[in-house]
Amino acid sequence: MTAILDLKSVSKRYGKKLVLDGVSVAFQPGLTLLTGPSGAGKSTLLRLCATAERPSGGDILWAGQKLPGARERLRRVLGYAPQAVDLPEELTAREFVLHLAALKGLKTGEADRQFLALAEAVGLHADANNRISGFSGGMRRRLVLLQALLGQPQLICLDEPTAELDTDSRQRVAALITRAAQSAIVLMTTHLEDGVATQARAVLRVDGGRVQPA
Ligand SMILES: Nc1ncnc2c1ncn2[C@@H]1O[C@H](COP(=O)(O)OP(=O)(O)OP(=O)(O)O)[C@@H](O)[C@H]1O
Ligand SMILES: [Mg+2]
Repeated sequence: MTAILDLKSVSKRYGKKLVLDGVSVAFQPGLTLLTGPSGAGKSTLLRLCATAERPSGGDILWAGQKLPGARERLRRVLGYAPQAVDLPEELTAREFVLHLAALKGLKTGEADRQFLALAEAVGLHADANNRISGFSGGMRRRLVLLQALLGQPQLICLDEPTAELDTDSRQRVAALITRAAQSAIVLMTTHLEDGVATQARAVLRVDGGRVQPA
């Protein structure tokens, strides 16, 4: 069965606030952009898809099997770049990524090969062995993106991967994301000016608890 992430009447509430209200959408291989106003629930939607949180109602199915039953199966083929993340400041970029790669079950040689190729692609090559504590906002953003692409995941959830990037980095990152979307479901929150919009198979708008074609 083709790997599809299927949301059926998914809702999410925090306390009294209903952020997602009966969202039904099937995500297929290719790039899907998620747009919408700040606070609309884009990151919430990605956290649910990335199994970082559970819905308050409804079902999420991975390749036809419901979460949380399918959660471990999905996590093995998942790449997730959260919007905000605490990085281990004392580690170098390479140490950090190789550590994550080990958790994903990649062999060290293969992990290092992939790390170097991705570092080159996102323009972090020269900083591979530098400590994260010295990284700028844009470098951190690219490092978080890099780790999400490790191990050729089938579902890649990217929360504002192009925020804080200069034009050159944006273009590199857009090319990398477009390439990843040739063989994976890529869900990406962004603003439409990003340039990747033309490459997307779908552009969806999250607003008022709903997810609809933009
Ligand atoms: N852990 C939480 N506890 C309580 N409320 C939360 C939590 N996470 C998100 N929210 C609320 O849910 C709503 C949606 O937040 P979310 O971060 O998903 O929006 P967003 O569309 O990603 O916004 P932005 O474009 O600013 O990143 C907001 O009102 C936010 O305050
Ligand atoms: Mg967000």
